[in-house]
Amino acid sequence: MTRRPLVAGNWKMNGLRGSLAEIKAMDAAYDDALRGRAELIVCPPATLIALARDIAAGGGIGLGGQDCHAAPSGAHTGDISAEMLKDAGASYVIVGHSERRSDHGETDADVQAKAAAALRAGLTPIICVGETRAEREAGEALSVVGAQIDGSLPADAPRHIVVAYEPVWAIGTGLTPTVDDVAEMHAFARERIEARLGGGKSADIRILYGGSVKPSNARELMSVPNVDGALVGGASLSAKDFIGIANAYR
Ligand code: 13P
Repeated sequence: MTRRPLVAGNWKMNGLRGSLAEIKAMDAAYDDALRGRAELIVCPPATLIALARDIAAGGGIGLGGQDCHAAPSGAHTGDISAEMLKDAGASYVIVGHSERRSDHGETDADVQAKAAAALRAGLTPIICVGETRAEREAGEALSVVGAQIDGSLPADAPRHIVVAYEPVWAIGTGLTPTVDDVAEMHAFARERIEARLGGGKSADIRILYGGSVKPSNARELMSVPNVDGALVGGASLSAKDFIGIANAYR
């Protein structure tokens, strides 16, 4: 097992040019010791990617987009292609975040097409899955996430894709699943990814946990078996908190 932990920040619809100072501070705090332990990326709004690239050039903190269109270009007003994100300086893109699934009605098939577009453009997709509170309470968490994995991962996806488990009810709420529930879900997800992709690929695929990750709970969550890093929302807006989370790997 040679999975390099990945700590990814998702800024969502937050951040103006003044916020680039946080990315600068993250990059400065991402020293050789931490680089030796974990990969760090931040996914700011698309308006800031090219500007952030100028700050973080030189092998430091990486950059990602938060969504992409499935097509490389065309008459899709307001959308952004994976090729555009790559051109702006991204190396990753989040696809299928629950906020995209709920706000924009994205289906597993849409997410799969976006993940394929990311791979086409030379970006690594971070494919998000996760159950709602009602689904967990109904005992359907595993079956819901299993179906999302089956439907959202391109069948021929390579071993460098990333999957993020983000229980919807844990996002922005301060609630987190128990360590046992995280362990159960991540082990299940790895098996299901193997069933979907085959070829032993799942052993190399990083599965991130996301949902109310903070400096105070990062160590506990990141030490759960089959958790290969974090997808961090609110706490990634501050360099201090984001580095505090990444330091779980230091
Ligand atoms: P919070 O860390 O704010 O709960 O958000 C998690 C998330 O949605 C990351 O993609």
